[in-house]
Amino acid sequence: MKQFLDLEDIPDVQKLIEEAISLKKDPFEYEHLGKHKTIGMLFFNSSLRTRLSTQKAAQNLGMKTIVMNINSEGWALEFEDGSIMNTNTAEHIKEAAAVVSQFVDIIAVRAFPGLTDKEKDGQEQILKSFRKYASVPVVNMESATAHPLQALTDAITITEFQQKKRPKVVLSWAPHPKALPHAVPNSFTKMMQLIDVDFVITHPKGYELDPKITKESKIEYDQEEALKDADFVYSKNWSSYKNYGKVENTDPNWMMTLEKLGEARFMHCLPVRRNVVVADKVLDSEQSIVIQQANNRTSAAQVVLKRILENN
Ligand code: CP
Repeated sequence: MKQFLDLEDIPDVQKLIEEAISLKKDPFEYEHLGKHKTIGMLFFNSSLRTRLSTQKAAQNLGMKTIVMNINSEGWALEFEDGSIMNTNTAEHIKEAAAVVSQFVDIIAVRAFPGLTDKEKDGQEQILKSFRKYASVPVVNMESATAHPLQALTDAITITEFQQKKRPKVVLSWAPHPKALPHAVPNSFTKMMQLIDVDFVITHPKGYELDPKITKESKIEYDQEEALKDADFVYSKNWSSYKNYGKVENTDPNWMMTLEKLGEARFMHCLPVRRNVVVADKVLDSEQSIVIQQANNRTSAAQVVLKRILENN
């Protein structure tokens, strides 16, 4: 693997999932791969899981880690070509990415969308600028439109917990007071299209995701109907894509409850707002696998970093 910007960078999803599960048995088997190598993790936004699990994954592979909260600790970066930098930005991405590339062997970036300009967010300017101007591989730790490390984690978790060959997986929109990005549902949808599951998306009308992402995936507007016979239920809020970045619905009836969950396992990428997105009784039940799911963030990051180290 040369880089990990999105799921398209995975040549063999099923094999990668199996390899990630296998790595859990002996996390230090490939400790030699990262010897004298460093990953630089640059955060434009907050993180708990991604920050800690990616460091742990890199350290399991023998790598050193450098972490920087780039917005608060670095110079304000300019991403526009040819701009006259006489206002707020102090350093151009051309120099910044080239300089960071001299200090590290892999650059990992987290940069959320602004959620005000659909076209601009879709261009993935920050992630793609790092890819363009860095001379080392770039890893996406959640960008404007994609969270592929989370989607790989989710596929690993479903594989580990599935009881039948082709489980039914439901992505169920949930209410939230703030406008959240589409990266997690986008990548989850793309991943479910790649593995052998019966996949259904349920959300209120007006909350359709980008049709270029959902493609032929089934959309069922009736949540109760969608949840029938589900094996895995993944609750997640996202803001409207059509009326871009707007919160148009906060209907508490879309919150996941134990009654709605039935016999299914409950998944969420975390962080999650209790009793808004999902009821306490679900998260505190045996049916919730969110903690095991979060643990798999290390496995997903480790298998990706391993592949990149092997390629370079
Ligand atoms: N799920 C996830 O990416 O968590 P963090 O935002 O805490 O990294």
